[in-house]
Amino acid sequence: MRSELDFLIVNARVVSCTAPSGAARNDLGIIDKGAVGIKAGVIAFVGTHHEALSLRTKQKLDVKGRVVLPGLIDPHTHAVFEGSRIDEFARRKSGEDYLSISKSGGGIQSTVRATRQASPELLLKSAKRRLSAMLRHGVTTVEVKSGYGLDVPSELKLLAVAKKLSGAPQTLATFLGAHVIPEEYCDEPEVYVDLICETLIPKIAKEKLASSCDVYLDDGAYSYEQAERIWQSAVAHGLKAKGHVGQFSDQRGAELLARFSALSADHLEHVSDDDLAAMGKAGVVAVLLPGAWLTLGQQPPDVERMRYYGVKLAIGSDCNPGTSPCTDLPLCAAIAVRQCAMSLEEAILAMTEVASKAVGIATIGKICIGNQADLAIYDSDDPRLLAYALGDVKARYVFINGQLVNTNDG
Ligand code: NIG
Ligand code: FE
Repeated sequence: MRSELDFLIVNARVVSCTAPSGAARNDLGIIDKGAVGIKAGVIAFVGTHHEALSLRTKQKLDVKGRVVLPGLIDPHTHAVFEGSRIDEFARRKSGEDYLSISKSGGGIQSTVRATRQASPELLLKSAKRRLSAMLRHGVTTVEVKSGYGLDVPSELKLLAVAKKLSGAPQTLATFLGAHVIPEEYCDEPEVYVDLICETLIPKIAKEKLASSCDVYLDDGAYSYEQAERIWQSAVAHGLKAKGHVGQFSDQRGAELLARFSALSADHLEHVSDDDLAAMGKAGVVAVLLPGAWLTLGQQPPDVERMRYYGVKLAIGSDCNPGTSPCTDLPLCAAIAVRQCAMSLEEAILAMTEVASKAVGIATIGKICIGNQADLAIYDSDDPRLLAYALGDVKARYVFINGQLVNTNDG
């Protein structure tokens, strides 16, 4: 390397997450006594501390043996919303269930009412608070769904907020107009599905307001046929498919997503072997959402079976007011390793290398030359801390696109 670097991180335990996918799910590709060089926002050097001694750089950071990971990626959030659901949680604790509360106008519909009324400024402010918390844990990319608007102006408002939020961390917007059937269309759901397919998706795709399209295919939400129509339209307009499937019942949503070469199928507490086989074949990532299954008191998904069918595992926070009021992605990994047959290393890959596939961005999630210089540096020499500590793991330094965006000297 002849030209001068912008930044050189030395004396680091580099957790590259570059081991060939599937070769060894416990291999984090660690370089002991390593170094990472950054130029023009991109990783320009990865090697040993010794090799780095001869490199010229504008700035140098000695991290004193700490671990340097790829910035974490949260592939599933509903971070833009207003309104509290604490009462609903309390009702569930005294015996009511999620679906009956939803059917009586609570649940997602109650967040829709509060979110429709909120100004973009207010939504931006509260979502920023949530994303800043995520950043402090070392999350550098966050997928953000709409889905609490459910009419044309409100869905567009949420996607605009999701876009405006981008920075530290960076955001990727997903259109979730098909979250539940809006109250005003409960007698004619197909009219709303038409609106999604014929008005919202074409506009969102044309104006690049989102890169993917999610549908909640389950009891009390959208049917297989409706989801099929929506994903058909989305894919025809260049959006990637992803979905909430198998959270409460198996409706063959995972198999449908495989047919659309989706980025991910999320939840999957209820999924058949045939659907997992289809996902494995099509390379659809399973996004596990520990915050949601824990809050709802559900059995966790069967990851052993997913692995058997070659399905890759990512983890998301599912940050939302109803089922996962959580901004702590490493905490979700800590729950997953305790409740599923998942190793600590596998949980780390689920927030980095595999999560990059779940959001469809090849240049993040690994520390390798040419990738975006998104890095999270923690106060430990052991990366497994992330899934060991039961919450509140803070990053010491966070880089996004080569810029130092967060320092926590605490
Ligand atoms: O991922 N299942 C659908 N969507 C969310 C819940 C949203 C809500 O309850 O507000 C989820 O669990
Ligand atoms: Fe969700």
